[in-house]
Amino acid sequence: MISKNTLINLAELEELVEKSLDKTTLAPSHFDYYRGGAADELTMKRNCQAFAEISIWPRMLVDISKRDMSLSLAGQEIDMPIVIAPTAFQALAHSQGELATAAAAKKLNTIMTLSTLSNHDIEEVAKAGNHLWYQLYVYKDRAITKDLVARAEANNYKALVVTVDSPVLGRRERDIRNHFTLPPGLRAANLEKFALGNIKNNKNDSNNNNQDSDLASYIASLYDTSLTWKDLEWIISLTKLPVLVKGVLRGDDAIKAVAAGAKGIIVSNHGGRQLDTTISTIEALPGIIAAIEKANSSNSNTLVEVLLDGGIRRGTDILKALAMGAKAVMIGRPVLWGLALSGQSGVEAVLNLLKSEFDLAMALSGCGNLAAITSDLISREK
Ligand code: GLV
Repeated sequence: MISKNTLINLAELEELVEKSLDKTTLAPSHFDYYRGGAADELTMKRNCQAFAEISIWPRMLVDISKRDMSLSLAGQEIDMPIVIAPTAFQALAHSQGELATAAAAKKLNTIMTLSTLSNHDIEEVAKAGNHLWYQLYVYKDRAITKDLVARAEANNYKALVVTVDSPVLGRRERDIRNHFTLPPGLRAANLEKFALGNIKNNKNDSNNNNQDSDLASYIASLYDTSLTWKDLEWIISLTKLPVLVKGVLRGDDAIKAVAAGAKGIIVSNHGGRQLDTTISTIEALPGIIAAIEKANSSNSNTLVEVLLDGGIRRGTDILKALAMGAKAVMIGRPVLWGLALSGQSGVEAVLNLLKSEFDLAMALSGCGNLAAITSDLISREK
């Protein structure tokens, strides 16, 4: 359903999905779950708007006849600095869900991050994908965490992404209004073996003021809210895989993550879905880069890599994030829109569009490769 002519840019893609819901498997309440943010959705909007406040100072008459955007990220050789962020319950968008997304990432030779809350499990997705990372939520029952980490490692996932911004779920008013739940037959597949695959069966947490969403209740009753940086050390001790910490917005937290042994930081506010009115990710990036540069210069044998997600909708957004020191970016919602419209080929179309926009941004700013994307290419308007 997506053709070259219908997919002009990613902003329009979301509108296209909204208009075409009747032709997809995506129910209106599930579209709202994907699209929405926390509370007034200010952080979600800020993530996008903040990129508009950064200007590019392009270089002229540089030979850009050959352009190369390939890189090595957490030890993976990939074709572009655009990586698929973890997003939950992808079978809401398409029956093939995470299998289609993993296959699309494989085709484009980039990384897909599988969410703990996926509808297809670690083992199935491993067969569909190539460069896979696994995103971890930490349950109160530590045996579950150990099991998830061991399964990711045994199935050839290449890194662990520990999300630290979600001890409880943000207040998502669309989901409260819609009584968000999964339709019959859809489960949190990785948790089935612990009889925790059904998100409806966990309504026993009295502290949850977000009761009308089954996901909020599930998380409130099962996730470990006592988690600290010490526990991150424990998670890192469970695995040989590099661990990236996702959801960091402060330089001092980045330093704590590195001290615990993290090999990567993902600057993220969960797409504006957790705490509303936080700083946008691109505005948070300089503080994290400054902290990480300090850590990297005092420990040259383990260079910590920084990624960013939140609001990436244009190739120029990627150029700006890289100029400010990110090694790569992650995208979430646009992948879900591509998936909803056309399954694997829709996700490929989204990745191809962003890749070609980024290639154009490199060409027009005089950058033949990623190393040429330096901080003097941009300035921030006050
Ligand atoms: C899950 O991670 C969500 O943001 O809903």
